[in-house]
Amino acid sequence: MGNYTIMGHPLIQHKISMIRDKNTGTNEFRKLIEEIAMLMAYEALRDLPTEDVEVETPIETCMTPMIAGKKLAVVPILRAGLGMVNGILALVPTAKVGHIGLYRDPVTHEPHEYYCKLPDPIDQRTIVVVDPMLATGGSAVDAINFVKEHGGKNIKFMCIIAAPEGLNRLMKAHPDVQIYVGQLDRCLNENAYICPGLGDAGDRIFGTK
Ligand code: PRP
Ligand code: URA
Repeated sequence: MGNYTIMGHPLIQHKISMIRDKNTGTNEFRKLIEEIAMLMAYEALRDLPTEDVEVETPIETCMTPMIAGKKLAVVPILRAGLGMVNGILALVPTAKVGHIGLYRDPVTHEPHEYYCKLPDPIDQRTIVVVDPMLATGGSAVDAINFVKEHGGKNIKFMCIIAAPEGLNRLMKAHPDVQIYVGQLDRCLNENAYICPGLGDAGDRIFGTK
């Protein structure tokens, strides 16, 4: 059932500890989310297909690998996923960007959709759905359902912090999706927040409450 990778790199782990700190302010929090996303994407994209192309160096002509095909689509789950986009675009500036707007109902914790727009066509692309937080898993499962309904096939999901509940739910719903997790936390609390987590990722990125 499903497959996931925990990103053990010390730089990723260090930066995650920094964003957990409640004293980390909006500006620094935003920068760190972007940096973590870039480091995670570097690892998560190591299987992107390449093809040899002819390049003329100052010395001679050679065949040398470049990313093949239709490349990448990055799809953040709004709002908090937006914070990860620029980190990935720093590595792959030609990637297309889709958006999936979901918010969790504060009482039921079920996701509600308010905006969705994907690059078209999307079926030939590697699609990386991003959201810093995987809590109950409801938002990630719905977002990936939407991507699949629009023809998405090769899908990866990247989150910075996951709860075991969300990870299990996502792997069960989408066993074909490769999942990349910065850190796997202990559990959810009674409000479906991740413990120890980092609080509300959207509020901390955008300075709202
Ligand atoms: C947060 C987070 C995820 C979702 C995770 O978003 O960014 O999208 O909750 O929870 P789940 O796994 O239980 O679905 P939220 O709904 O708070 O919206 P926001 O990003 O606009 O703040
Ligand atoms: N969404 C967040 O932003 N944080 C959590 O801990 C759970 C859902």
